Amino acid sequence: MTQILILAGTAAITRRISALPGHQVASVDKEIVEKHAREGDIETLLTRDLGALPEIVIIGDAMPLQEALSIGSLIDRVLPGVELMLISEPDAETALNAMRSGVREIISPLVTDDELLAIVHRAADNLSSRLKPHLAPTVVADIAQSTVIVVISPKGGVGKSTIATNLAVGLGRRAPSHAVLVDLDIQFGDAATLLDLDPAHSIADAFGTSAAMDTLILKTFLTAHAGGFYVLAGDDSPTVGDHVRSADVKHLIDQLASQFRYVVVDTGAGLGEHTLAALEKADEVIIVSSMDVTSIRAVRKELDVLSELDLLPPRRHVALNFADRNAGLTVKDVETVIGLPVAVSVPRSGDVTVAGNRGESLMMAKKPGPVAKAITRLVDAVFDGVPPAAPPAPVAPPAPVAVVDAEAKPSKKKMGRRRKP
Ligand SMILES: Nc1ncnc2c1ncn2[C@@H]1O[C@H](COP(=O)(O)OP(=O)(O)O)[C@@H](O)[C@H]1O
Ligand SMILES: [Mg+2]
Repeated sequence: MTQILILAGTAAITRRISALPGHQVASVDKEIVEKHAREGDIETLLTRDLGALPEIVIIGDAMPLQEALSIGSLIDRVLPGVELMLISEPDAETALNAMRSGVREIISPLVTDDELLAIVHRAADNLSSRLKPHLAPTVVADIAQSTVIVVISPKGGVGKSTIATNLAVGLGRRAPSHAVLVDLDIQFGDAATLLDLDPAHSIADAFGTSAAMDTLILKTFLTAHAGGFYVLAGDDSPTVGDHVRSADVKHLIDQLASQFRYVVVDTGAGLGEHTLAALEKADEVIIVSSMDVTSIRAVRKELDVLSELDLLPPRRHVALNFADRNAGLTVKDVETVIGLPVAVSVPRSGDVTVAGNRGESLMMAKKPGPVAKAITRLVDAVFDGVPPAAPPAPVAPPAPVAVVDAEAKPSKKKMGRRRKP
């Protein structure tokens, strides 16, 4: 079943497309399309009547051509990968302008029902052979404030990825499109799997030369999660990290921090070179420990090392995972050994395994369980508001669209890091 959205179609064409078998079709009237375009709110326009992102968008013939093309280019920018079609007389000039606006197919108003069916089938086939349409990260100039949160622990298997992924979900829900999760466990990263994503790109692409030069290219390597945030996924090859230097990691985090309000970094166990580089850029750190003596002692040692290296950001949250009253230790004992208060205790719960295996986030469950509640407290500790809305995007002319080159601006660090009181 393909999701088709008709924008500003005449009654006749809307009826004919709606009658095509095997597709879910919604249509939006011209006035409403124009209102959303004026307000620059294309994302709402795309989902308001369909309840999901469309795979095919057909701009109808009730709209003047220039306006249709302007809206086409906005949609092409917001929803890369969508099959964009235009109902219009297919003359050469229109075809060229339409192509520039991202339109893939021009449908003549005189099209027969059989031809219409064939066009839609062809588009659906195209869609099945590539990445589904996804919302592009909003293209904005540098944001003034950003919080980089690095999740660390000396040991593996203690819940870093569980906490980092669910924290990203929680932040994404509060600040849609303003959070990004980076899987910096370059060797064994599994954040994308935990989130049931099938990324077309990985962090390896992000360290390539072109991405390193250009924030906009970097953004095309992010994978959108339905929860309203982005993920820079780990790579399948465990050797990718061998070529990644500390400077690359720091540059990557700076780039993301210039574009996202919240950058959550999941890391591998211990204090590898990449984790240390991330900590240099951290505004906040979440130190994860399981509730056993060896893990707690290791956390203490790790904190001592980081303190000596002056790599502990002032905001530190200890997350005690697998918290258990019967562990033979109290939270107080843990705090005494670690030397820091425990910010949250995350209980052991079968929900985590089930959610991980299903690729569902605990935070999206209708009724949050004890783990989701604990991670929500971490979200509360980190969340510090949503950036002001970007000014509405003007309705662009059909010519190629110029975009702000965020690279040209100074980095967040140079602009002064915001520290919370
Ligand atoms: N609170 C919890 N309750 C039950 N299982 C958990 C909990 N936290 C993590 N797990 C499970 O423990 C394993 C390791 O967690 P993970 O987040 O991948 O750790 P890390 O990233 O530190 O290696 C996973 O199988 C995960 O599902
Ligand atoms: Mg992990």
